[in-house]
Amino acid sequence: MFSDNRSVFRLLTGSILFAGLLAFFCWYSPCSHAMSVEEEAAYIVSQMTLEEKIGVLVGDGRYVPDFEKNTNDAGQGMIIEDMRSQVIIPRLPRLRTTAMSDGPAGLNREAKKDGEENFEYTTAFPTGTCLAASWNMELVKRIGDAFGNEVREYGYELILAPGVNLHRNPNDGRVFEYYSEDPLLSGKSAAAMVQGMQQHGIGATLKHFMAHNQQANRHHFNAVISQRALRELYLRSFEIAVREGHPKSIMTSYNRMNGLYTDENVELLQLLTRQEWGFDGFYITDFDGKGSALGKVRAGINLLMSGSPEEFDELLTAVKNQKLDEKLLDERLTKYIEFKLSCPYALGEEISANPDLEAHAALAREAAAEGLVLLKNDNSCLPLEKAERVALFGKTAYSLIPYGTGSGEVRSHKRSLSMHDGMKELGFQLVEGMDKDYLDYVEKIKRENKVPDYFNNPKMRADNGIVGDQAPKHFKGRLVAFSRERVLSREEVEGYAGRSDVAVICFGRSSGENYENGYLPITDIERTLLETVCDVYHSAGKKVVVVLNVSGVWETASWSDLPDAILMAWLPGQEGGGAIADVLSGKANPSGKLPDTIPVKYDDLPSAPYYPGTPKEEPLNSLYNEGIYVGYRYFNTFDVPVAYAFGHGLSYTTFEYSDLKGDKEIFDGSITFSVKVTNTGDRAGKEAVQLYLTAPMDKLEKPEQELKGFAKTQLLQPGESETLQFVLDGRALASYWSGISAWVADAGVYVVSVGASSRDIRQTKTFQVPDGLVVEKTHDILFPDYLLNELSRNRKAF
Ligand code: BGC
Repeated sequence: MFSDNRSVFRLLTGSILFAGLLAFFCWYSPCSHAMSVEEEAAYIVSQMTLEEKIGVLVGDGRYVPDFEKNTNDAGQGMIIEDMRSQVIIPRLPRLRTTAMSDGPAGLNREAKKDGEENFEYTTAFPTGTCLAASWNMELVKRIGDAFGNEVREYGYELILAPGVNLHRNPNDGRVFEYYSEDPLLSGKSAAAMVQGMQQHGIGATLKHFMAHNQQANRHHFNAVISQRALRELYLRSFEIAVREGHPKSIMTSYNRMNGLYTDENVELLQLLTRQEWGFDGFYITDFDGKGSALGKVRAGINLLMSGSPEEFDELLTAVKNQKLDEKLLDERLTKYIEFKLSCPYALGEEISANPDLEAHAALAREAAAEGLVLLKNDNSCLPLEKAERVALFGKTAYSLIPYGTGSGEVRSHKRSLSMHDGMKELGFQLVEGMDKDYLDYVEKIKRENKVPDYFNNPKMRADNGIVGDQAPKHFKGRLVAFSRERVLSREEVEGYAGRSDVAVICFGRSSGENYENGYLPITDIERTLLETVCDVYHSAGKKVVVVLNVSGVWETASWSDLPDAILMAWLPGQEGGGAIADVLSGKANPSGKLPDTIPVKYDDLPSAPYYPGTPKEEPLNSLYNEGIYVGYRYFNTFDVPVAYAFGHGLSYTTFEYSDLKGDKEIFDGSITFSVKVTNTGDRAGKEAVQLYLTAPMDKLEKPEQELKGFAKTQLLQPGESETLQFVLDGRALASYWSGISAWVADAGVYVVSVGASSRDIRQTKTFQVPDGLVVEKTHDILFPDYLLNELSRNRKAF
């Protein structure tokens, strides 16, 4: 049969080779269950050369020899758009680049280019602060779910969100990306967001770990924080998010903390997060951060972004010089590859590229409406009657600011519904022709493309490469927000007043990464507009409403007496104008409450004397001398007057609190409180109920009150009640005693206060802890490298 032995040999070897290849392919195919993700990741790493390993660890593949990325880098801070599902090393086809994108308010792809067809639009959801203001964690989880669905359906695997840093100071341009001044509200919001997102198999990234509370010298400043303030506040929000949300990734911050860059801090990345909190995901650095690549890998970083040739060389030399054990490098890389292999694409799942954007827009509107906070509503000025003719003042009423600038933008959303359009759609009678006047003004700003006042100073000009008076290209989204308000004469205001029954004025402010621009004061033009409008309308017996389309806490005390109502609308996402219209009309009953205290003036803030550190322009050290007294913890302990208290927010109905009960009087590891909330008004509404604890001070001093639980009722009809429950465990009672590195609950009487805000307590109860408890021992880590002089109840810091 066979012509010669060679043919037999060939046939035999051919069959064996074929069988071998088949067996290998079956075992090594994407759908194979022969290997666990961990085994497969280890196998892949075992097949890689040193250069390949470093090339993936640094920049996710871009420095792998011969790798040609099929993307145009969009410059600094770039996200790798078209590296979706790209094979890095042909002989290891299962090792692909990770498709990642920003950011906290929605999948932030590049904006649609002129003439581009079939563009994949994404939804701009309400920003973090607005979501936290809803106090509705179920709703935040639904947003996470819709957001994660877009991430997944467009073939992305890692979303660089949510942001979990505390609001220490409103100047920080990034506050809108984060949630609150309170760690419980921040941590729970982030956990809900992560849970919602990760239901889709993709990875969420908590950022910016740690103490990234300012933008001044953001790549280098050293946040100096006591161990106690860290544990109780700044770490606490991340701890809750890690323990309850189980994020697949954490992004370290640019800055230093207590002396070390956060991405080089082994105590932070290993002892605390992995050992104490059980974090099992991977660490990614913030993009183009400073510090040493070697330090990062040694401390625990699994992916250095964006990565640079210098970092590649540094690691290669370090391995060759035995400064870095290749085994450690393998370990870091394996963890990251495990993530890649557990992503939907690697698991062989299809993508639709067709998420339900309409449903997501409707959800974005619902969530924004629930996050709006009615600060003031004299004589039930709101809701407006449909019959009332409305004059809409302020450029941002016609050009909504949906989100801030920088990576927190959502450049790929389809539309941005302005307040004007939202009100029009709901059938409000808006003064005819007024929209044209304002839209012309908005167009003029865009056409003239002048550098906005705020950026017109030597530093900003240099930072943004501004030459002459023309705004650079990247200012597109900043032009209207940062340009000056339209100037109106009294006669013009009178003209509008003659044709309307009520004036609604919108003031807008954007802010963003790299800038200390979160708290830009009301301008003279805005103040004059407000004063004139109030004077003209009030003297005719007409009402004035102010809407704030701002990124966070804003100064209100100097003007809040003037209008009849003030609605805080934050940066509410693409459907914001509709949500504002819903609340103004009463279609939605406001139920948002402040996630931050609004101080009377900036200087009242406990961080004001130390922020953003010294020297002020380019701070090296930022001393957190206010210690544990951040936000209401400060204002309510030291009896400092505020403009609006933490947790404050009005409704069009009223709620009564009753029957506050504890299930026991002596704490034995856990205690449950319940309270009945009844809608006593004449409209359906929801109420965000807050539980504060006042703990005895035996070993440690403590803030007067701390938020330890919150819940939101369902939509209660007039007369309807709901009983809410709050469970307090040992950690809820405990404070961090750095002297013994432990969470400790002092013996004594604890007062539980349940209320509608931190300064509107409706019911109180007490319980006892007979003997002091050491609730949890921790590592003694993260000691400050500078002498702090923290604020104390017994003495003011200097
Ligand atoms: C920001 C990150 C962002 C990254 C990528 C950095 O400048 O700090 O939040 O995820 O850029 O865009």
